[in-house]
Amino acid sequence: MVQKLDEIFNDFKSKIESLDKAADVLSLKATVIGKKGSLAEILKSLKDATPEERKEIGPKSNQIKADIEKMVVAKLQQIEKDEIDKKLAENTIDFSLTDSIMDKGLQAAGLHPVTQIQQEIEDIFISMGFDVLDGPHIEDDFHNFEALNIPETHPARDMQDTFWFKDMKHLLRTHTSTIQVRGMESRKPPFKFVGPGKVFRCERTDATHEMCFHQLEGMMVGKDITVGNLIYFMKTLLREIFQKDMEVRLRPGYFPFVEPGFELDIRWKKPGKGESKHSGWLELLPCGMVHPNVLKAGGIDPEKYNGFAFGLGLDRLVMVKYMIEDIRHLHSGDLRFNKQFKMY
Ligand code: DAH
Repeated sequence: MVQKLDEIFNDFKSKIESLDKAADVLSLKATVIGKKGSLAEILKSLKDATPEERKEIGPKSNQIKADIEKMVVAKLQQIEKDEIDKKLAENTIDFSLTDSIMDKGLQAAGLHPVTQIQQEIEDIFISMGFDVLDGPHIEDDFHNFEALNIPETHPARDMQDTFWFKDMKHLLRTHTSTIQVRGMESRKPPFKFVGPGKVFRCERTDATHEMCFHQLEGMMVGKDITVGNLIYFMKTLLREIFQKDMEVRLRPGYFPFVEPGFELDIRWKKPGKGESKHSGWLELLPCGMVHPNVLKAGGIDPEKYNGFAFGLGLDRLVMVKYMIEDIRHLHSGDLRFNKQFKMY
């Protein structure tokens, strides 16, 4: 009988090795240590054994049962691991792909200069505690105009040639100032955020005009915010972008959503050109103190809170930074242009 036990155990050992499915392992286990398994059969016949045999068989069959249970657990874990490894192997990224694409004459992509500058500016503002918000390209009249103190009859609507949808209720946003409204709706003061994105205007294109371009809106609302705060943040931004202190000036500028409104200009000299028409003050950053009507439309009490806002033209900034003479290059998709800004 002792020999029979050894046989059962050895038979189990050799069979379990070749299995690779959990269900098969479990049914093999049942044939040995299940209620009707071979081990149970042996124990049933124990009554016919001699007292010496019984002494040996009892502990030995317990030992075999324990060993088998251990082996089953180890095998099930192994099967699970193999399955995971197999799945991972099927989903691995083939890093040699870039080379094979190159072999076929295709170019590996880089980030567009506008995306690069957008990310750079986001990082600068994040480091100063600003959130980065997003907003939809398709907007309604309220968020693009009404809430920004531009009612239906306001002549300022003419300043922004709008792509309207047929329902005349929806439009492609003409500026990222829409994000000011969405930001005010979604948070309580004090807060500060920037909102970058594409904007659309029904314009005839030329060297300085595109139908689709990029802005980055900024807004800070809190208690006792001043023009000094506005200038501080703008100068910090410009210093980070141009890697040097920039001389700035504020001129009065009119935008219905700010009062007072400013044009912030930077002192700019195109290298190597002397004091030509490319030198002097460059209009870069329209901004101002948020109009009380705008705060009200965003659900904020203008008696308690105030703030500043600005709208930075990202394409303009890229053009200034890299001395690009025609805005249309940016959307040309021309690799000879794009490759000059490849950054890894
Ligand atoms: N939304 C304006 C435009 O596209 C730019 C602008 C001006 C944004 C003044 C502002 C601001 O936040 O304060 O022409």
